[in-house]
Amino acid sequence: MSTNDNNSNAYSDFHLQFIGGEWQKGKDDSINTNTNPYNGDMLVEIQQATKDQLNEAYDAASQAQAEWAKTTPAERAAIMYKVVSILDQRQDEIVDWLIKESGSTRIKAMVEFSATRAITLEAATFPNRVHGEIRPSNTPGKENFIYREPIGVVAVISPWNFPLHLTQRSIAPALALGNAVVLKPASDTPVTGGLLLAKIFEEAGLPKGLLNVVVGSGSEIGDAIVEHKAPSLVSFTGSTSVGKHIGELANGGEYIKQVALELGGNSPFVVLKDADIEQAVKAAAFGKFLHQGQICIAINRVIVEDEIYDDFVERFLAHVKTLNVGDPSKQDTAVGPIINEKQVKSLKEKIAKAQEEGAKMILSGEIEGQVVPPHIFTEVTREMDLSCNEVFGPLVGIIRAKDEDDALSIANDSMYGLSSAVFTADMQKGLRFARGIRAGMTHINDISVNDESNTPFGGEKNSGIGRFNGEWVLEEFTRTHWISMQNEPRQYPF
Ligand code: TAP
Repeated sequence: MSTNDNNSNAYSDFHLQFIGGEWQKGKDDSINTNTNPYNGDMLVEIQQATKDQLNEAYDAASQAQAEWAKTTPAERAAIMYKVVSILDQRQDEIVDWLIKESGSTRIKAMVEFSATRAITLEAATFPNRVHGEIRPSNTPGKENFIYREPIGVVAVISPWNFPLHLTQRSIAPALALGNAVVLKPASDTPVTGGLLLAKIFEEAGLPKGLLNVVVGSGSEIGDAIVEHKAPSLVSFTGSTSVGKHIGELANGGEYIKQVALELGGNSPFVVLKDADIEQAVKAAAFGKFLHQGQICIAINRVIVEDEIYDDFVERFLAHVKTLNVGDPSKQDTAVGPIINEKQVKSLKEKIAKAQEEGAKMILSGEIEGQVVPPHIFTEVTREMDLSCNEVFGPLVGIIRAKDEDDALSIANDSMYGLSSAVFTADMQKGLRFARGIRAGMTHINDISVNDESNTPFGGEKNSGIGRFNGEWVLEEFTRTHWISMQNEPRQYPF
């Protein structure tokens, strides 16, 4: 599929901001030094954007959106199809950036590339899927029309773990539906989370001003992005703590706006006693260690029924020991580096705390640079830190459940409710169990890590509000307008 073997065609100038369709230098004094999390190589230095440049981006977006909303569905769809074609041509270049900037293994980079491609293709269908309704009226002579219109300007704040996909998951639907975007990528991944997509949309012929990428620190310009008058919707993907703050700002400031919040998770992976243990072991390893566990829907708690607990643990340990750890660019590496020093420090603290709390560490290894090898803990209880909080790293606790009811109770014992999984040979039992879980997503006989562009992705409780993908994001990124038409004089009481 990929034809971009010729590097002379590769994108460059990632030290610039993309505002109003122009590549310009950031005007802030601070610099984002973008490094490879595996070997520390410096990739690019970006002078960060000021609040004035953010205002410029919003002005450009507001102006461009008014014209963009008038374009035909075919024109907007054509841009999305062109983006898909560029993604295909530049697959090698994009995968290379995902490896060197976000520490993606090759496997993860391909998973992310495919998901990005899929949501762009799905977004290409949106312009023709938006439709209104005609509803009956109880008022004589009245007709009710329900229009679905672009929401206007959308602010997108994205994370570093699946930067390309989690950004595109917001910006492609937003643009396809006639909106304009101001995007702030995570500081760890300004290229794959934003600037690279800006290059792609520019090459695809997206009119100037519709997509703006502002590189700056969340703590410096984050509030200004949310509080600005221009955006009608803030689409945020990241931690629950920042998400809560954004929700408060969006609803407590001068201008009320809608929010789509995709936050942290604490996915349970339940193995019932009749499950195919070998299959469950392989699933647990992939669903836990893909991208070093830095995925909001990664398996966070493995819960195994008592009767098969020891057998599962023995086989899981043996399998995880076979995983290759280290250089993410190597084809057979399963576990690569952690994104930054801060996250490595937090994982070291979690390892120490698990041991203090009485969990038994049955697999560990030396932490070299930012590479943290898999750590497995057994005899973990539901009260321990490993169970209660999102790990976001290659550490896993295995909890023993007395029986199916106990497993369900443990699975639901969390303030998060994003994804979940259950393994069983009995599909009816699996379905009953799945329906008992309070989460946005549950997968029977599969891992919690699933994202399909045509199915609703999102969570409840502290995992956020709103749904991505398919018609769910179509509703999220449009506004509903009821227009009634009184066709004959109405009789008023006075
Ligand atoms: P966050 O701090 O939430 O960062 C996510 C995005 O929010 C980044 O673009 C960040 O910008 C921005 N941001 C930070 N402070 C902000 C503010 N006050 N206003 C507006 N935007 C702000 O997450 P993180 O530090 O990257 O990761 C920490 C934890 O987040 C992880 O351990 C994990 O629990 C969770 N996480 C969840 C997900 C998903 S998909 N649910 C993805 C990544 C991380 P800067 O990068 O410039 O700070």
